[in-house]
Amino acid sequence: MRTYLVTGGAGFIGSNFIHYMFNKYDNDIRIINVDVLTYAGNLENLKDVEKRDNYTFIKADICDSEAIGKIFEENDIDRVVHFAAESHVDRSIKNPEVFVQTNVIGTAVMLNCAKKSWELPDGSFKEGKKFLHVSTDEVYGSLPEDKTSFFYETTPYSPHSPYSASKAGSDMLVKAYMDTYKFPANITNCSNNYGPYQFPEKLIPLIINNALSGKKLPVYGDGKNVRDWLYVEDHAKAIDMVMEKGKLFETYNVGGHNEKQNIEIVNIIIETLQEMLPDSDPRKAHVNTDLITYVEDRKGHDRRYAICPDKIKEAVGWEPSTCFKDGIKKTIAWFFENEEWMKNVINKDYQKYYESMYHMN
Ligand code: NAD
Ligand code: TYD
Repeated sequence: MRTYLVTGGAGFIGSNFIHYMFNKYDNDIRIINVDVLTYAGNLENLKDVEKRDNYTFIKADICDSEAIGKIFEENDIDRVVHFAAESHVDRSIKNPEVFVQTNVIGTAVMLNCAKKSWELPDGSFKEGKKFLHVSTDEVYGSLPEDKTSFFYETTPYSPHSPYSASKAGSDMLVKAYMDTYKFPANITNCSNNYGPYQFPEKLIPLIINNALSGKKLPVYGDGKNVRDWLYVEDHAKAIDMVMEKGKLFETYNVGGHNEKQNIEIVNIIIETLQEMLPDSDPRKAHVNTDLITYVEDRKGHDRRYAICPDKIKEAVGWEPSTCFKDGIKKTIAWFFENEEWMKNVINKDYQKYYESMYHMN
């Protein structure tokens, strides 16, 4: 039975990945989830898997080499899927240090512990081991608005935010391990994800939650910044396929030609909520475009991200399967069915964060 060590599995993408893997492989795999449970880590995301015999949760910090080393000593880990990170650009602008600590130092610790555990006396690595480093397209910087340019795996890194700079640093460490030691790894650089369990600091869940609560919908700058949106389950599938079929030492960009301006996203959410809310629901009356509020732009705001996904398609046969129209409906339906989840997330700390970031209610 193959054993996966998933870091950051209590976060948004990590928890979706764990669900995806158990749905696909059921009892044929074992998953160890290591997460320190920051504000973004939420064990409620994993309620339905926590009783499985082939699932273990370990609360530990990826920067703690002793704790991580012990996990490798006590378990024969076959695959590492490394999600754990500080992930929100706005927070990185306010407090960059923790991004360097978790994203750079934490990745160095993960690499070092995996290397120690997997390396043979002759410097080669045990058969079948692989480290998959989950990264972002934001490392490539910003594209012009002309819609003809894309991020390729060969695009030079040019990160602008402390978040993307720290992810670029972590990618470089993985590349250094591959180049220096022939350490068995892949890197995936994915575009913006959306879907169930996403923390409402990110655009889509924040807009859904605010709209349903009748609160203003904050749009940064002119609202015309472009992101390339991917349904999170498609990302989980891509990671599994790269792990199975990806060539060692390669980088794969994951995205799906689904570019949209932020203001388009906000308008689609309003329309979809209007469509999905029954007439009897009092919230229907206040979900409308009057809530849209243009606010001060994000500092250093990247204008456009867009992935060319040709390499991953050719190499492993991955393509996104959920179009935005369906994906946003599924996401909103999930938030309708999980109001309790959102209530628990919107706690005092979140309120404090929201007020300090947006200076409005
Ligand atoms: P998230 O913020 O929702 O989750 C991060 C998880 O990591 C949380 O559970 C948190 O508790 C955990 N964590 C943070 N610091 C830790 C530490 N020191 N030790 C152990 N665990 C720690 O993030 P996400 O959106 O799920 O993103 C996961 C990964 O995917 C990140 O590496 C991110 O850079 C990358 N990524 C995200 C997106 C996106 O759109 N969200 C797109 C591309 C790539
Ligand atoms: P976000 O979800 O934070 O992802 P990222 O910054 O990693 O791309 O933001 C997506 C886009 O939405 C980005 O261009 C910033 C913008 N945005 C807003 O306009 N208002 C908001 O309240 C947030 C959180 C983001």
